[in-house]
Amino acid sequence: MLVSSPNEQSELLKRIVSAMRVAFPTPDAAFEQFYGMMHYHLGWLNEHFEPVAANSGKLLRPLLVIHANRVFGGRDEHALPLAAAIQLLHDFSLLHDDIEDNSPTRRGRPTVWQIWGLAQGINTGDGMFAIAHRALHGLTDVGVPAERVLRILREFEETILRLCEGQYLDIAAEGRLDVSEAQYLQMIRGKTAMLAAASTGLGARLSIDDEVEIGRLATFGEALGLAFQIQDDILDIWGDPALTGKPFAADLVQRKMSLPVIHGLGHASATDRERFEVLYRQPELSRDDLETLLTILDQCGSRRYAEHLAAAEYERAMQALDGVAPVNQAALNDLRALAQSLLGRAR
Ligand code: IPE
Ligand code: IPE
Ligand code: MG
Ligand code: MG
Ligand code: MG
Repeated sequence: MLVSSPNEQSELLKRIVSAMRVAFPTPDAAFEQFYGMMHYHLGWLNEHFEPVAANSGKLLRPLLVIHANRVFGGRDEHALPLAAAIQLLHDFSLLHDDIEDNSPTRRGRPTVWQIWGLAQGINTGDGMFAIAHRALHGLTDVGVPAERVLRILREFEETILRLCEGQYLDIAAEGRLDVSEAQYLQMIRGKTAMLAAASTGLGARLSIDDEVEIGRLATFGEALGLAFQIQDDILDIWGDPALTGKPFAADLVQRKMSLPVIHGLGHASATDRERFEVLYRQPELSRDDLETLLTILDQCGSRRYAEHLAAAEYERAMQALDGVAPVNQAALNDLRALAQSLLGRAR
């Protein structure tokens, strides 16, 4: 449970969404549908561009920004543009990720590229990338000193590069059955953990210059991000699509080298490993084939192994906070509670 009340939480989520909304320009009539596709992805419009209250995602990363900033006495007004920028950047990465992963659904609805095609899907993601930067420049408008904004911007750009490096490794690993756990960890550090690290690290950097404290918060975010991605891999196979909003076993369909797959291949009997490899090399997988893969993973205890590794990263995240000297103890408690709520999450 978060220390702050449910009312305060929903108020905060509303403020984050408002900060995201103000990052968009008022469009000329000719571009309404261009921004409309972005707003569709964000859960604000339906596919006919009418207002709707659809799933906008968990808004985890902006919450990390706000709470990390509060830990050191920072004001929410100063953190909101950064919180919005990080969420919009995440949304940019999802728009392109859904194309890269051939994903038909996200947050319980068809993906942008499924509805409007590949070309518009790519361009919508590019637009979201620019809007994320637009949001970040809002830091100057709320009075954050230019020098600090520039430093944050530099780290924001570096984070994007780490994310794209991770996505590169993820795509390159598809169907390559020799990927090691160490290579997997390097891949998810890039594609997921670095943005979580930037959320907490830059949230702290907004209000302090102490590199040791900023480092603790960044390490917390990184370890939490690793645990988060491992849980995402688990949910892909053993989660409920009605809760995740994503299709069943999309990673297996796409021949991803997720943690359960790497563990399963390393621990299956010679016969099962052979069966797994043959199926992973097939151009198409039937429902029966997916069930066969699942049975092998279940027999190897691959889910339990992945859960164990996620829990270990979660512990490492918590330990990183141990040395922090908070200005606001309640905010630090909230940050811990937020992290705890992700352990074993179902959505
Ligand atoms: C999905 O992130 C992509 C990953 C890095 C696993 P989230 O699970 O945070 O997605 P939303 O924003 O809540 O939909
Ligand atoms: C997504 O990883 C990471 C980024 C978008 C950078 P996944 O491909 O596992 O995320 P989902 O499962 O599609 O949300
Ligand atoms: Mg992906
Ligand atoms: Mg994906
Ligand atoms: Mg996934």
